[in-house]
Amino acid sequence: MKSLNIILVGFMGTGKSTVGRMVADRLKRPFIDMDEVIEERAGKRISDIFSDDGEECFRKMERELVQDLSRRQEQVIAPGGGVVLDPENISDFSRTGIVVCLHADPETILKRVSGDTHRPLLENDDKAGAVTELLNKRRHLYDAIPWRIDTTNMTQNQVADRVIEILDDHASSGESNSLNSSEGSLSS
Ligand code: S3P
Repeated sequence: MKSLNIILVGFMGTGKSTVGRMVADRLKRPFIDMDEVIEERAGKRISDIFSDDGEECFRKMERELVQDLSRRQEQVIAPGGGVVLDPENISDFSRTGIVVCLHADPETILKRVSGDTHRPLLENDDKAGAVTELLNKRRHLYDAIPWRIDTTNMTQNQVADRVIEILDDHASSGESNSLNSSEGSLSS
């Protein structure tokens, strides 16, 4: 059970990467920031993949990486916020891991992403409008994830504690996920 991956999904600015790193440190597991791996594989920044090759190309790379990572164990994974758009991603992740959704209220998200310039989907004069529109489009996808943490009034340390509690609860509840796929190596 302890070998299950932990996958932190959630909208941009919900703390997936920071919390993921903390959880990985505490559990002494490898941490995978999916956007970083995609950038290594493509040899360019996410924003350049979007502008040069288009979002569809990015989603294809994201999908391939989900498939690779779902064949491995004991990782802490932070995907980009749009990974929920393809339901196959969530079902692949769920076969070998626990998927936890970090969420926050729109005002908090906006505060957290307001100074950013590296998120192509928010590169808009009206950032608040872009956040609201995307959140509204995706809310049902995030809401469908059974394990959820509202990070609005929590420190990142508290969120990391809660993620580890969820893993422990899951382990002691005796639920099992099938880990029948062979471990593969992640090539960048
Ligand atoms: C995206 C979120 C980004 C990144 C890309 C698309 C999205 O990751 O994958 O810009 O569709 O929500 P973060 O959630 O880490 O910002």
